Amino acid sequence: MATTPQWVMIGGEGPESYNQHSSYQGALLEAAKEKMNETISAKLSLDLISGRFTVADFGCASGPNSFVAVQNIIDAVEDKYRKATGQNPAENIEFQVLFNDSTTNDFNTLFQALPAGRRYYSAGVPGSFFGRVLPRHSFHIGVISYAFHFTSENPKGITDRDSPLWNRDIHCTGFNEAVKKAYLDQYSADTKNLLDARAEEIIPGGLMLLFGSGCVVSGSWLCCLWLFIVVVLVLCIIHIKQLKK
Ligand SMILES: C[S@@+](CC[C@H](N)C(=O)[O-])C[C@H]1O[C@@H](n2cnc3c(N)ncnc32)[C@H](O)[C@@H]1O
Repeated sequence: MATTPQWVMIGGEGPESYNQHSSYQGALLEAAKEKMNETISAKLSLDLISGRFTVADFGCASGPNSFVAVQNIIDAVEDKYRKATGQNPAENIEFQVLFNDSTTNDFNTLFQALPAGRRYYSAGVPGSFFGRVLPRHSFHIGVISYAFHFTSENPKGITDRDSPLWNRDIHCTGFNEAVKKAYLDQYSADTKNLLDARAEEIIPGGLMLLFGSGCVVSGSWLCCLWLFIVVVLVLCIIHIKQLKK
């Protein structure tokens, strides 16, 4: 199991808390809502929408964006079910939401702010998403929003001023090739671990939705554009694993 990071989003509702400083991340969810609806409508098998339906948010922080993410997913699933069957999802489907973050996350603030009138049961799942945090076949739809860019640790040498890998730039523009490679190596290893773990935990046929910002560098920093990406892995990771066996 991966080690618990020392850093943490500032909990509570105070002036420096993550909750007071996460509207940028929240805007991404608004921007991606339609795309997410389309994806769930097109890619999620109707057979999976019956009985208990489980959504898992990896890197949930202490809210409120996590609630928006999971509610958008539930709305899209209910919408698909209603249109396809003509039946009321509230009568046939029970939703469960699993909120994951590191053990140092402020889960108290998260659970105290659970939206009134929500139509889901909830549970916390503490632990690093770079390793397994759930049993096999635990969730139908997983989401990672603004947490996919984290690494499990700093690449060696990055914080050492005497190292050729010392990173003078807080952003990923303009740094040297060695720094770029160090981050890429770390990120590649972490991403593999993260996807391998989710491949075990996802129910076959389920979806992983990954939201985050990307940085396109072309020549000068003026051309550096922040944009959002939506990556949908529809069973790919599971198929890849099965092909490997
Ligand atoms: C920028 S916040 C995003 C929170 C929320 N998803 C949102 O959209 O506002 C990133 C979150 O990822 C969590 N995180 C980072 N690395 C993690 C890991 N290895 N395992 C679990 N959570 C992690 C952080 O603790 C933090 O709460």
